[in-house]
Amino acid sequence: GPVDMKSLVLCLLAVACHGSTVKQQRRFPDDFLFGAATSAYQIEGAWNEDGKGENIWDRLVHTNPTVIQDLTTGDVAADSYHNYKRDVEMMRELGLNAYRFSISWARILPTGMANEINPAGVAYYNNLINEMVKYNITPMVTLYHWDLPQKLQDLGGLINPLFTEWYEDYARVVFENFGDRVKLFITFNEPSQICFEGFEYMNKAPLLNTFGVGVYLCAKHLVLAHARAYHLYNTEFKPTQGGQCGITISVNWFEADTDSAEDLMAAELMRQSQWGIYADPIFSAEGGLPRELLDRVAEKSAQQGFPRTRLSDFNEEEKAFIKGAADFFGVNHYTTVKVSATEHKQVYSVPSMLDDVNVGFYWPEENPKSASPWLSMAPNSIYHALTHLKEKYNNPKIYITENGWATYRNSSLIDNDRITYYRAAWESMLNTLDAGVNLKGYMVWSLLDNMEWLEGYIPCLGLYQVDYQDPARTRVARKSALVYKHLIKNRYIDY
Ligand code: NOJ
Repeated sequence: GPVDMKSLVLCLLAVACHGSTVKQQRRFPDDFLFGAATSAYQIEGAWNEDGKGENIWDRLVHTNPTVIQDLTTGDVAADSYHNYKRDVEMMRELGLNAYRFSISWARILPTGMANEINPAGVAYYNNLINEMVKYNITPMVTLYHWDLPQKLQDLGGLINPLFTEWYEDYARVVFENFGDRVKLFITFNEPSQICFEGFEYMNKAPLLNTFGVGVYLCAKHLVLAHARAYHLYNTEFKPTQGGQCGITISVNWFEADTDSAEDLMAAELMRQSQWGIYADPIFSAEGGLPRELLDRVAEKSAQQGFPRTRLSDFNEEEKAFIKGAADFFGVNHYTTVKVSATEHKQVYSVPSMLDDVNVGFYWPEENPKSASPWLSMAPNSIYHALTHLKEKYNNPKIYITENGWATYRNSSLIDNDRITYYRAAWESMLNTLDAGVNLKGYMVWSLLDNMEWLEGYIPCLGLYQVDYQDPARTRVARKSALVYKHLIKNRYIDY
């Protein structure tokens, strides 16, 4: 019979629809938070304006300037103290739902102690938060991103047990002043970089080597301080303010070099020493410090003639206080590192955490390199790290609070390598969501170029380039900014 036009159309439609279902892009959920992150010392500048106190990075760059690779400082940086409105405008250009920034402790408490508040410092953060809230951008606030008030460092800083009290008092000031508008608090950014790199590896302020003792003291005080702030928030602020309080830990993927039992244990020890020591007490079912790490340090300490171990576990009361003390797990993820028991062995002359675990680590040759030596591009890296956390800690709520790529200063605004990195990371995040990981949001590092600690301004990680020759610190979008904007709007990866 004659061709029935209606059936033909229906049939073609069915084929078309079927085809598009098969090819349908995987999407991020509508309530997924897409944002960008920064930290105070790296962008604010105004290091001694309006009553701000000195912090350990101010002290380091002014007294020991040659440790910064390009001999720069964060005295002015991107000058966000004076440019915060432009920063919020950039967030709007990108369509961000969230922005993660940190509060400079010494800007609001110049001596670090909570007996004296600097009203100009509080006003700066109020202005920034109000500007964001006006445009529906969710603030995510880090209380401690490495800029300890110098006066507290003079008293020993994180290796003084009183640190937990100073920190709790500071946290109260933050919750009291900003908690009406801020609903996402992060107590600490990257504990390992604070304790291991600050008190052993000499790669972060206060640039000390404390002979395998201070690194562990710092770790325990930091975790206790976190738990004190969490409980303070939980009992005194959450009932009326209704927000969440978590911690951000650097969780790069540490992968065993081979499947040998030795390499598998080496990778495990690396994970325990770099992040398990902070995460296990809070997120594991048993609480307390990681078993194998405790055993290694005890063994090493005995060999070295110490009458007792350099790392003891938390006592039962502390364990109970710390366990479960977080509403979410903030993850900074950048790369995959290979870990081996036999290769790349080092010889250590003084007691140290690196010697305690005694593993070798390296970045696989075949992985494309960025402008930072520790950051190369690894396949499905986010998936490996986050599915591991899901299994290990009973599927906690996770925010990726940093992820990003470093290019060289003055390289093209057409930053195709960063775009390649980001697209791979986002694919990996979709795999992670498919695997049932409770991932709720994602912040790129960074909104704009900033002071990359000891590397100065050599590597750039911003979606926006900052012109440091220009006193106004003009910001210009890189191509990656447009790609991210599309992702946020469409919720799928737009090639
Ligand atoms: C980790 C830190 O939190 C941040 O301060 C740093 O700039 C980035 N990663 C890139 O290294």
